[in-house]
Amino acid sequence: MSTRLPTLAVVGATGAVGTVMLDILSTRENVWGEIRLVASPRSAGKLLTVRGEEVAVQALAPEVFDGVDVAMFDVPDEVSKEWAPVAAARGAVVVDNSGAFRMDDDVPLVVPEVNAEQVRNRPRGIISNPNCTTLSMIVAVGALHRAYGLTELVVSSYQAASGAGQQGIDTLYDQIAKVAADRTLGTRAGDVRAAVGELGPFPAPLALNVVPWAGSLKDDGWSSEELKVRNESRKILGLPDLRVSATCVRVPVVTTHSLAVHATFSTEVDADEARRLLASSPGVVVQDDPANAEFPTPADVVGTDPTWVGRIRRSLDDPRSLDLFLCGDNLRKGAALNTAQIAELLAAEFTAG
Ligand SMILES: NC(=O)c1ccc[n+]([C@@H]2O[C@H](COP(=O)([O-])OP(=O)(O)OC[C@H]3O[C@@H](n4cnc5c(N)ncnc54)[C@H](OP(=O)(O)O)[C@@H]3O)[C@@H](O)[C@H]2O)c1
Repeated sequence: MSTRLPTLAVVGATGAVGTVMLDILSTRENVWGEIRLVASPRSAGKLLTVRGEEVAVQALAPEVFDGVDVAMFDVPDEVSKEWAPVAAARGAVVVDNSGAFRMDDDVPLVVPEVNAEQVRNRPRGIISNPNCTTLSMIVAVGALHRAYGLTELVVSSYQAASGAGQQGIDTLYDQIAKVAADRTLGTRAGDVRAAVGELGPFPAPLALNVVPWAGSLKDDGWSSEELKVRNESRKILGLPDLRVSATCVRVPVVTTHSLAVHATFSTEVDADEARRLLASSPGVVVQDDPANAEFPTPADVVGTDPTWVGRIRRSLDDPRSLDLFLCGDNLRKGAALNTAQIAELLAAEFTAG
């Protein structure tokens, strides 16, 4: 039996997700031998800290995957599309955070609390990590589905700026700095838009505003983000005909996505029972005491690992439906943490020899 610890490559180590990944790799139980950090040639030679050690970033090239057992990809879709197969051809198992392969039939889409067994079903040597909006609700929704049998989801998201990467974070802080001093702003149509100037990756001002848009325009007015919530929820839960309607909205929060979810099941539900069931589910925390202002908010949840659930109510008009409010850190469980959990399942395979 081999006792060699597996070698890991983190591709995109300098980005918003990559930065959180280095923190997660430094704080979770260490299951890795060598950790290689990789980014674009722009970052080559830059020193980043992981597990308390400074490691020099390498430019993405085929040779960086030589001897690598697991390669995490936290890079834009087009970079994953080109380079994940290169890493796989050199013998690495790829865990990809981008949207490049998520809906491919021969690539599993894995959330360890929901469908860990799919990790072994990887004919191309590639495993996909779901998008951050789906991930911020699916652990809790999956637990409810196992108990009650899900038939429909109606979702409204309240998505953080960091879902649009480091550029999204920078844009929100820049806009807040521009509007902070002027207490007349937000009183006349267009005054905030004129004050913030640069919109960055968002189609409207984000400071002092909400923006009913995330992603790119798809058929019939749907956004790519809304279709991801539908398609990825169906694939992860193994429910190809699940009815899903999502409206994705960007809010002026740095990190942590929130979702209001109306979930309908095949049997009648009870709010207290659902609360108990969620509270005993791995990766879920229930915070639900509105009389004492106890419910999850992004400002309180950011930086934590679980999916937080509150405002659990049975629908007044349908005894088979629950209404919930959920928060999840989009850079942790919504991206880096889920990838790290998948990679740890792989590390256990390698360590078992
Ligand atoms: N932000 C979220 O909430 C979130 C959640 C789930 C999934 N994701 C996905 O995770 C991926 C990374 O997102 P992010 O928000 O971390 O983006 P980001 O902050 O823009 O970081 C992008 C990373 O990719 C690297 N990169 C870009 N072009 C490259 C190239 N040609 N060759 C090698 N490396 C290259 C960058 O390296 P340099 O620094 O050298 O340019 C950087 O490390 C995306 O696919 C995104 O859709 C994001």
